[in-house]
Amino acid sequence: MVHKNLNRHLAFIILSILIQLLNIVYGQAYIPKPRIGAAAVYIQSEFRLYYIGGYTYNVSDILANPTSDLFYLDCNPYSNTFFTWTDLKSQGVNIPPTVSLTANLEGVNQDSIFIIGGQHILKQSNEDYFYKYDIITNEMSIPVIQGKAPPARGGVNSVSYEGKIYMFGGIAPNADSNIPIFFNNFDILDTVNLNWQVGSTVNSPITRSGYTATLVNGVIYYIGGRTAQYTFSPMSEIYQYDILGDKWSLKTAAFADAQAIPGPRNAHSAVLYNDKIFVYGGAYFNGDTSYELPPKEIIAMLDTTTLVWSIPQINGTTDMPNLVYHTATLMYATMVVSFGNITGMPDNEDRSNKLSYLFYLDLPIQWNPIPTPTNKISNITTETPVATSDTTPLPSSSPNKMVIVGVSVGLVVFIGTIFLVCSLVYRRMNKNKIKTGEGSSQANGQDALNEIRIQSLSGDSVEK
Ligand SMILES: *[C@@H]1O[C@H](CO)[C@@H](O)[C@H](O)[C@H]1NC(C)=O
Ligand SMILES: *[C@@H]1O[C@H](CO)[C@@H](O)[C@H](O)[C@H]1NC(C)=O
Ligand SMILES: *[C@@H]1O[C@H](CO)[C@@H](O)[C@H](O)[C@H]1NC(C)=O
Ligand SMILES: *[C@@H]1O[C@H](CO)[C@@H](O)[C@H](O)[C@H]1NC(C)=O
Repeated sequence: MVHKNLNRHLAFIILSILIQLLNIVYGQAYIPKPRIGAAAVYIQSEFRLYYIGGYTYNVSDILANPTSDLFYLDCNPYSNTFFTWTDLKSQGVNIPPTVSLTANLEGVNQDSIFIIGGQHILKQSNEDYFYKYDIITNEMSIPVIQGKAPPARGGVNSVSYEGKIYMFGGIAPNADSNIPIFFNNFDILDTVNLNWQVGSTVNSPITRSGYTATLVNGVIYYIGGRTAQYTFSPMSEIYQYDILGDKWSLKTAAFADAQAIPGPRNAHSAVLYNDKIFVYGGAYFNGDTSYELPPKEIIAMLDTTTLVWSIPQINGTTDMPNLVYHTATLMYATMVVSFGNITGMPDNEDRSNKLSYLFYLDLPIQWNPIPTPTNKISNITTETPVATSDTTPLPSSSPNKMVIVGVSVGLVVFIGTIFLVCSLVYRRMNKNKIKTGEGSSQANGQDALNEIRIQSLSGDSVEK
């Protein structure tokens, strides 16, 4: 059973990668630009990882096309667009270019992404910072929210819990000085009754931006970030906010290994898996550093039952990308890391991160780039079997040796078949082209896709 599912699963993945390659050949794939400060929301019911906004570095380009990007990564392994991007902006979904915003899935039926705050890239007004994107109808609207709207700011990591979105602190540019304003506002958006509320700030951090907020059994854990321009919060300092009690408390985390103490950081990411918070990336800087430095220990793990930091074991190369202003999203046991800048590189070099990465958080952690159409096929075929095991909704029993052998043999046979089909189709297409003169390679490409799809799927039923 496992064998059949896994084999079929791999077959679909290989198939979808080939389709991606064809898409590249025929120029149909949407590839989002590198960026910093985008928001990401995973919608499990749709297997879609949505991305909103972010700064794509080129202001003239943003001026020429002044709307935020909105697109998603298809994460359904049974879909033939698995791991490809779909643009929604071109479908009329339209908000001003915004960076360092937050987004959460909420609403009466858990069918809307609430997009809040951030900073507008082109205008400094205090308007238009709240949007509601309906994932079913693909419509963007400005919800009417009762109560006093909080100040717009970036550097907030919001948490949603039972219909409410919790937003602490943040940062905004200061008109009178080049030292930004640090906030300690604690705003709560009730997405069901559509009103603003204010949370307690008794015993809260004084100010805080660029931190991460992680929900653990009704308690939000605030980690890292800055309280002022060059004042970073040490990783031992864990502020906890108990949602039901509306109460803050400050805890001190210990370090498992005095030789490997994770360093302070800003604009990192955090996901919760198996009662552990996995913190990734971020940057450290002060008045003397000419560019942003990677923090000590790129990846670190806080055990929420013991409040002890440790460095997770990594299987494979530990030479991970040092990212900041990126996004990290948990999908089953896999953390998907996208976008952001690479730290530790001088200003005059291209620091934009162009790949997305998968981290399998069962220890020891394995990681590799998402096989994108721009990777070579040899890369993809060797990486994909690893990539599949945890992103799938199937029960994740680990396959035994027999299964692995079976799958490998099946895979080789399958790839062989696909190549055969591809080359046949390709030859036929070329013949057609010669016959019809120039023709439309795009249309021919589409036919080829359909043909491959039909031939390869005929023995199998498509799930979902
Ligand atoms: C920035 O965008 C403008 C307008 O789209 C374009 O002409 C220019 O080549 C871009 N610059 C870079 C460095 O990509
Ligand atoms: C490490 O990864 C390799 C393949 O990438 C795998 O064969 C090996 O079993 C892994 N080791 C552990 C301890 O998981
Ligand atoms: C991120 O990298 C881009 C491309 O190198 C650069 O233009 C930009 O200034 C960087 N941004 C930050 C905040 O480091
Ligand atoms: C993928 O292929 C490229 C180009 O051949 C190579 O530079 C890169 O290291 C490969 N990546 C992996 C993970 O093998």
